[in-house]
Formats: sequence, structure tokens, C-alpha cells
Amino acid sequence: MSDFPLFPEQASTVAWQVDALYGLLMAISLFFIVLVFGLVIVFSLKYRRKSKDEQPKQIHGSIVLELAWTIIPLFMAIGVFTIGADVYFRIERAPADPLEIYVVGKQWMWKAQHESGKREINTLHIPVGQPVRLTMTSEDVLHDFFIPAFRVKKDVIPGRYTSMWFEASKVGEYHLFCAEYCGTQHSYMIGTVTVLEQTEYLNWLLGGSTSSESMSQAGEKHFSQLGCSSCHLQGSDGRGPSLYGIYDQPRILNNGNEVVADISYLRESILHPQAKIVSGYEPIMPVFAGQINEQTLGQLIAYIKSLKKDE
Ligand code: CUA
Repeated sequence: MSDFPLFPEQASTVAWQVDALYGLLMAISLFFIVLVFGLVIVFSLKYRRKSKDEQPKQIHGSIVLELAWTIIPLFMAIGVFTIGADVYFRIERAPADPLEIYVVGKQWMWKAQHESGKREINTLHIPVGQPVRLTMTSEDVLHDFFIPAFRVKKDVIPGRYTSMWFEASKVGEYHLFCAEYCGTQHSYMIGTVTVLEQTEYLNWLLGGSTSSESMSQAGEKHFSQLGCSSCHLQGSDGRGPSLYGIYDQPRILNNGNEVVADISYLRESILHPQAKIVSGYEPIMPVFAGQINEQTLGQLIAYIKSLKKDE
């Protein structure tokens, strides 16, 4: 299917699976189109009225026929569902320890920041053969991050994080689109994904005019400038809970519920601290919604992720 001129290149590990599923659906549709229209034509010739007083033979149902046209499509639908679910879970579930890149969409550009601190606009440089996870949000309206050659696409939504992952299988340059109408310049909200060999990617990360400040280092600065560090101490004697080692771990709230401290929880707890209060602490943290931008927020979260328990 990759040579079929209407399809973009297959440049990620899941691309051929998406195409295979699509091909199967096309084949099933074509089969039934041919079957239905073929029978319409054959029957209308075969059973046409041949003389004026000809009476058709009456038929009163056929159990075998009805069972056949119920059971066969049932198994076809279950088969398509099974393959579709399999491909869906492959696309949704990121492997452990992917390369993390933060993406912010805004009218009308894509801004990306790598964990090392490197930033780019309307381009995305990634290494080949390594799983990459994008954590995405929008500064204004709904956008949608779409890389046709990778067969992945995800809405980018203001006020929350969405994520998607992929593993590029081929070095090269690929189109990047916004696939959600987001205003007059929507069609210009495009860019290039550049897939590099591992070493070239590392060279690229180090090259150019870098401030050589990683996302977590920038986050650490904000953490003290915004005053977070005066309450969130390393030990348990701060006015706020310690943030060391909390990332992706369960947290017990003062209402007895348990939540996992993923990026969405961290985001909410920074912007709207009163939403979920950790058990044993007072709701005294100021609201940061409207005070910090998406970039600062991403850096703060990168910093909190970097805080390991044993440090
Ligand atoms: Cu952003 Cu369309």
C-alpha cells in the first residue's frame, strides 16, 4: 500500500498496521459493492417478467439464508473490531521511557521544547527508532497535531494535556499539519518533522544558539521565583507536601480518594490547587491559573518529574 500514490509514506512503526486495517475495510466494502450490484443486475435479467400472464413463484422465507446473512457478517464485524482494537491500543499506549517533547499549539504555529531545553517552531526534530511521546496543549483554541506519514493524529486542547507517541522507522522529512479548523490562518499552521539518526539528533540538540538550560533546570528556577520552594520542602515538614518522587505515584486526598500524580494532576494542582488537596495539608496554596503561561507550566512539571525520592 505504501507505493499507492494516494497514500503518504509509511514512516512509523504503526503505519503499516493502520494501512492494513484500512485496506481490509476497503476490501470488504468492495466485495459487498460487487456482490450487491452484481446480484441486482443478474437477478433483474434472470427473473424479469417474460410474458404478460407470468406469475412469480411465492417464497415464504429461508431459515438457512437468514442465519447465513446474520452469522457471517457478525463474525466479519467481530474480526474488524478485534484488529481495530489491537491497532488502537498500540497507538494509545506509549512504551516505557519514551523521549519526551512538549508541544504548545497557538494561532498559528507549533512550538516544541525538548527536555534538554532546545526549542523549535513549526519543526520537530526526532531520532529514528526511538519511541517519542508528545505532551501537547494549546494557548488558545482547539488544534490538532497530525503527521500523516506516521498515521498519528491527536487533538490539542486548551486547558489540558493530551499526549501521543510514535516511533519513526525511517530517516527523512515529513509533513506536519494542524488538522482542526482553528481560524483564518489554519491552513498555514504546518511544519516539518525531521527524523534523524540517533547521533545526528544528539548533535542537533547540542548545536545552535542554546541557552543550555534544560526544561527541568528552567522549571527549578520558576519553582523558587514563584515561591513554590518555600512551602514544598524536600522533607515532610513543609506547609505543602514534598514533591520528591511523587510523579506517577498514587496520592491520598483529604476526602479519602486516591489519584495518580500524572501530568494532568500536576497541571491541575498548579493552576487550581484547591481542586484536590493531599491528605494532611491545608488548602492554602495560591491559584496560578492566569499567572503562568504554558511554557512555564511545562517546565515546572518537567522539574517536578525530575525530583527523585532518593535525592
Ligand atoms: Cu491550528 Cu488549525
